[in-house]
Amino acid sequence: MTQHFSFDLGVTDGGARTGLIRTPRGDIRTPAFMPVGTAATVKAMLPGSVRATGANVLLGNTYHLMLRPTAERIDRLGGLHRFMNWDRPILTDSGGFQVMSLGELRKVDSDGVTFKSHIDGSKHRLTPERSIEIQRLLGSDIVMCFDECPALPADRDRIATSMRLSMDWAERSRAAFGDRPGHALFGIQQGGLDLDLRAESAERLRAIGFDGYAIGGLAVGEGQAAMFDCLDVAPGQLPQDRPRYLMGVGKPDDIVGAVARGVDMMDCVLPSRSGRTGQAWTRRGQVNLRNARHADDPRPLDETCTCPACTGFSRAYLHHVVRAQEIIGSMLLTWHNLQYYQDLMAGMREAIGAGRFATWQKSFHATRAEGDI
Ligand code: GUN
Ligand code: ZN
Repeated sequence: MTQHFSFDLGVTDGGARTGLIRTPRGDIRTPAFMPVGTAATVKAMLPGSVRATGANVLLGNTYHLMLRPTAERIDRLGGLHRFMNWDRPILTDSGGFQVMSLGELRKVDSDGVTFKSHIDGSKHRLTPERSIEIQRLLGSDIVMCFDECPALPADRDRIATSMRLSMDWAERSRAAFGDRPGHALFGIQQGGLDLDLRAESAERLRAIGFDGYAIGGLAVGEGQAAMFDCLDVAPGQLPQDRPRYLMGVGKPDDIVGAVARGVDMMDCVLPSRSGRTGQAWTRRGQVNLRNARHADDPRPLDETCTCPACTGFSRAYLHHVVRAQEIIGSMLLTWHNLQYYQDLMAGMREAIGAGRFATWQKSFHATRAEGDI
C-alpha cells in the first residue's frame, strides 16, 4: 500500500469522470459518496456494515468531536480510526460550516469564530490553526480548510467579504497543516452563486496549492436548478488533476447531476438521517415506510437490492418496526439507504468507464417516479 496521497484521473465521459484516490489507509474510487459519521459513528450502523455497503471513506466532524468527547481525548485513545473501529480513510470537515448553523450562538471575526456549544452552552473558539490542529489530533486522512459561508440568499458584498475571509483562512490552514506525507489538505471554494466570485476563489486556492478542492456554500437553500447552474461552471474553475468534492450534497438526483458536471466526491446525512425517520431511497424513487399501504405488503422494499432489509424482510415488517419505533427499523433502513447510494455510485463509475454515462443517466431518470412511491 502506498505511503502517499495521490489522485489518478481515469476515464472522462462528457463532464463526468472516474478516478482513484490512493491513501495509506486504502483507495477511494471516484465518483465516491461518503457516509456521514459526525459523532464517531454512522448512526445505527456498525463500521463493518458501513464497509459492506461499499463505502471506502467516511466523513467526521471537527465541530461535534471537539465538544464531545474532545480531540485531545480521541488522540490519547489512539485517534479517531481506532476509537470508532474504522481503519479506512476518514475525511473531516473543519467546523466552520457547522458553527454557522448555530446562528445567535456564534460570532465571526477576521481571526476566527467564537461560539457556544449546542450541548451545554460552554464557550469555544475555532481558528484556522486550531481547526487544523484538531483534525491532526483526530488522525484525519483528508483535512478540510477552515472556512465560513453565509446562508443564501445573501447580498453580493456579504458573499464576497465572506469568501475573501475564507481564502485568507485557506492560506493560514495551508501554513498550519505543513507537510504531512500520506495526509491530504483540501481547499474549499466559496462565492455563493456568483461565478466571478467563484472564479476569484478558485484562483486564490490554486495559487496556494491543495491536494484536492471542495465546492462549498451550495445546497444551502438555493434549489437544484440554481445549484446546477453554478455546477455547470464551478468544477471547471478547479484543477483538472485533483479531486473535486461537492460538500453536503445531496438527494440521489442531485448527486447524479453533480457527477455529470465533473464532481468526484460528495457527502450527505440524507441516506442515514432519513433512514431513521422511515424514509427509503430506491431506484424507483422515495418510499415512506410509515405509510399504511405497506402494512400488508409481503414484497421486499426493492427486489434488486442486496441489503439485509431487502433480502430478509417484507415492506410489511419494515412498516411495523418503523411505526413501533423499534431500533431495528433505523438499522435496516439506514443500511438500505447507504447500500442504495453506494450502488448508485458504483453504477455511475461503471457507466462512465464504459463511455455510456448519458444513457445511464437517462435510464436513472426514466426508472424513477417523482414523490413518494
Ligand atoms: N458542508 C456543506 N457545505 C460546506 C461548506 O461550504 N464548508 C464546509 N466547511 N462544510 C460544508
Ligand atoms: Zn435494500
